[in-house]
Amino acid sequence: MNLVPDRWYCILRAGEVPTGRPVAFRRMGEDLVFWRDGSGQPRAALDRCPHRGAALSLGALQGDSLACPYHGFRFDPGGACVAIPAHPDQPIPRKMALRCRRLAEAHGFIWLWNGHGEPVPAEPPFFDFTGYSCAGSAFQARWETHYARVVENEFDFAHLPFVHHNTIGRGFPKPVDIEVKQDGDHLSCWLTRDPAMVLEVRGPNLWRMPLGPKVYNFIAFAPIDDEAVMLYLRTYQRIATWAPLAWVIGRANALINPVVLRQDARTVPSQRPKVPSLTDGDVFVASDKAIVAFLRWRARAQRTASAESSGDTLEESGRDQ
Ligand code: FES
Ligand SMILES: [Fe+2]
Repeated sequence: MNLVPDRWYCILRAGEVPTGRPVAFRRMGEDLVFWRDGSGQPRAALDRCPHRGAALSLGALQGDSLACPYHGFRFDPGGACVAIPAHPDQPIPRKMALRCRRLAEAHGFIWLWNGHGEPVPAEPPFFDFTGYSCAGSAFQARWETHYARVVENEFDFAHLPFVHHNTIGRGFPKPVDIEVKQDGDHLSCWLTRDPAMVLEVRGPNLWRMPLGPKVYNFIAFAPIDDEAVMLYLRTYQRIATWAPLAWVIGRANALINPVVLRQDARTVPSQRPKVPSLTDGDVFVASDKAIVAFLRWRARAQRTASAESSGDTLEESGRDQ
């Protein structure tokens, strides 16, 4: 899958991985099984038993181990096979192991490290929401396109008076003049005429936008594969500390956002190619300045990673940890 290597990707809501049973999700171009070990830590591996390829997500948790539904082989949280019921007294082949993926749980999400070795940074980077609280998960939605197309869309002022002509883009002037700033994986853009409205992307797949001085819209774009993405939308606010009022703010945002995003969902998945790039046919103009900055950041991050792992023939994703 076309991803930026050596980054943490926000891929699931923490609540989507329950305790007590394995679950299947397609993420990062792979069919994965997720479960929680005895200490509650989320775990993930390819959803394919190393014995004969059955889906481990159809299996069960037995104590701290994951049992395959087909012949009952059991695997510990690190992926090592610890039991072959048909041959309890024979040594277990070393290759009989799960292909595990490295996860973290933070900010109410599950994150996957898409890279080799120890993650740097050790914890997934997030936006600074100091003083804010999450007023709820507004909703989630699956779109049939590459996640980077949706990040582009959220960094695009010029589409507002067209796609959103009867909602947030009503009366929005068509000419736009955009400023862009980049600091490592953190990109910001704003209209020259309105520096208070700063859209931010934290690469590879997080975005936020202020709704006034005390509320943010936040979206994580979880890559499913090159042709699909799951959007997780949240509201962060610092208007209210009283939980019921915070809930009302979150609900109000949850009513408005799906209407706006449904408008984008009619257009963005129609873009071809589904995986955007600077060199694959799009003809950019000045109003695409922020999108070009994002695509340049992606291209540079991909080049840097491949230079650092010169001679390495593994693909960008799907690396065994
Ligand atoms: S296929 Fe999993 S134990 Fe045989
Ligand atoms: Fe939009």
